[in-house]
Amino acid sequence: MDIGYLRKYIRKYKKQFLIALTFIILETIGDLIQPTIMANIIDKGVKRGDMDYVLRLGLMMFLLTGIGAVFAVTRNIVSSKVSQRFGADLREDLYIKIQGFSFQNIDKFTDASLITRLTNDVNQMQNFAHGSMRIFVKAPVLGIGAVVMAFILNPRMALIPLGVIPMVIIIISMNLKISYPIFMKIQKALDKVNGVMREYLAGIRVVKAFNRFSYEKDRFKDVNDNLKDRTLKGMRIIAVFNPIVALIVNIGIVLVLWYGGLNVHKGDMEVGKIMAFVNYMTQVLFSLILMTRILNMFIRAKASSDRIREVFATENAMKILDNPMEFEEGKGRLEFKDVYFKYHESSNWVLEDISFSVNPGETLAIIGSTGSGKSSLINLIPRFYDAVKGNITIDNIDVKDISLNDLRDKIAIVPQKVLLFTGSISENIKWGSEKASVGEVEKVAKIAKAHDFILSFNDGYDTYLGQGGVNLSGGQKQRISIARALIKRPNILILDDSTSAVDLITERSIRGKLKEYLKETTTVLIAQRITSVMDAEKILVLDRGKIVGQGSHEELMETCDVYKDIYHSQLGKEGVDFGS
Ligand SMILES: Nc1ncnc2c1ncn2[C@@H]1O[C@H](COP(=O)(O)OP(=O)(O)OP(=O)(O)O)[C@@H](O)[C@H]1O
Ligand SMILES: [Mg+2]
Repeated sequence: MDIGYLRKYIRKYKKQFLIALTFIILETIGDLIQPTIMANIIDKGVKRGDMDYVLRLGLMMFLLTGIGAVFAVTRNIVSSKVSQRFGADLREDLYIKIQGFSFQNIDKFTDASLITRLTNDVNQMQNFAHGSMRIFVKAPVLGIGAVVMAFILNPRMALIPLGVIPMVIIIISMNLKISYPIFMKIQKALDKVNGVMREYLAGIRVVKAFNRFSYEKDRFKDVNDNLKDRTLKGMRIIAVFNPIVALIVNIGIVLVLWYGGLNVHKGDMEVGKIMAFVNYMTQVLFSLILMTRILNMFIRAKASSDRIREVFATENAMKILDNPMEFEEGKGRLEFKDVYFKYHESSNWVLEDISFSVNPGETLAIIGSTGSGKSSLINLIPRFYDAVKGNITIDNIDVKDISLNDLRDKIAIVPQKVLLFTGSISENIKWGSEKASVGEVEKVAKIAKAHDFILSFNDGYDTYLGQGGVNLSGGQKQRISIARALIKRPNILILDDSTSAVDLITERSIRGKLKEYLKETTTVLIAQRITSVMDAEKILVLDRGKIVGQGSHEELMETCDVYKDIYHSQLGKEGVDFGS
């Protein structure tokens, strides 16, 4: 098992860990001495009627138990602290790692699986860490100690526990082999349950609207049953192995009683010793049962550890330069040169041979049917994904040569699927620029035509938005999302179908104001409506991932059939804009 990634935490918590271990060992030694003291009480004290001796040793047992209890409490406090902190550290590091993932990485893991890894898998590791400071050390120390003590008591009889142990070890290793793949499957099944749950909650409105509740219920039942079945299978294995271990050890105890009985009968051994011996056998049994529990925990933790390590070991799909170029005050000239793109190596090109350029301050509009690759194209600009072939440059610098921070600082994007966060409206707008003043927030809200409707709410800019902005209409969400992008004052502004839910008159007004506010900003605008793209300096017509027309509205009306078709289908033969 590769646990290189854990080294950091081991180093950090080594001291506390060792303290916990010391206490546990002391506590176990106390446990180990008890049966011998008892044997002495019986054989030397009770048998000879020496009450003084009995009292003295009795007091010693009492003290040992007391000290053991103090050790146990201290050790528990330390181990809880260390394991909780370790869990929190691991979760945080994992979270940071995931934050740095490119979209390709996240697509590969799926977000449901990343959530399981961040929660349940980290918990398994945390449990294991906690256990490792408790029973993990106690079990072997107790087991070996009990055998040693048994040897001191009677070497010949100690062969019995010594014979029992290898048998149990064989059984435990069989258990390990069988359980590991099952626990790995349990974690995967958990991923699926989380996946379905997430999808259902995200799409709950659609589910209800389409009356698909029973379908969703079945889908959930399937994955949930699958999780249950797999977990039961894992538990069943544990349920079979534990009693087998107990059975073998109990046979050992019977042998001790039989053999010891014979010896007592012959006068070779005293009763107290036999009692102590049985006690040691019970301690061996206890330790072996603990061992199987430990190993089960270990397997679960190993499965989880492998899943966590996989996240840590994943290289960002995007190559980030060690010494990226400084990106000084840019102008915002954007150019694509022979760009090809696909999402997976095996799939077809989503974009083919894309070349165009936009000058600072100009607007490039992209139009094309759904699925033609418009969103995929603009995703390449802030490097949400990387082009497979060709170059994308901003002010003649390849986007791959600029640091991601600088690059994304210069670009503001209004995504096709609006995503707002829990918090007030002004907080949401300020996402674009935390330091923005109230005046600036209002200014961009006015440009995005959001100011009026925001003021119509009782709490105005302090109106609290639920998760994803549930308490806003689609068009309202889009306008807040536009304001959020504007406040960044970007060099390049990307609007992906950002006014699709806004009526034509409002849209026109937003566009006019945008032009005024961001005179120097290069705008890339995706739209379905021909009226939204007509005024742009340059229009790209995209069809199945290829550019089939490029130029101004007038030029395209002359040269591009696809564009003409879109125009006539939306505005009729005469080109009347019904919306204005
Ligand atoms: N994350 C993804 N993984 C794999 N394929 C994807 C992914 N996103 C989009 N695609 C595929 O890429 C193609 C282009 O999709 P894209 O989202 O760019 O279209 P679009 O022009 O923006 O469409 P729309 O107008 O509906 O928004 C589609 O065939 C789609 O199936
Ligand atoms: Mg799109």
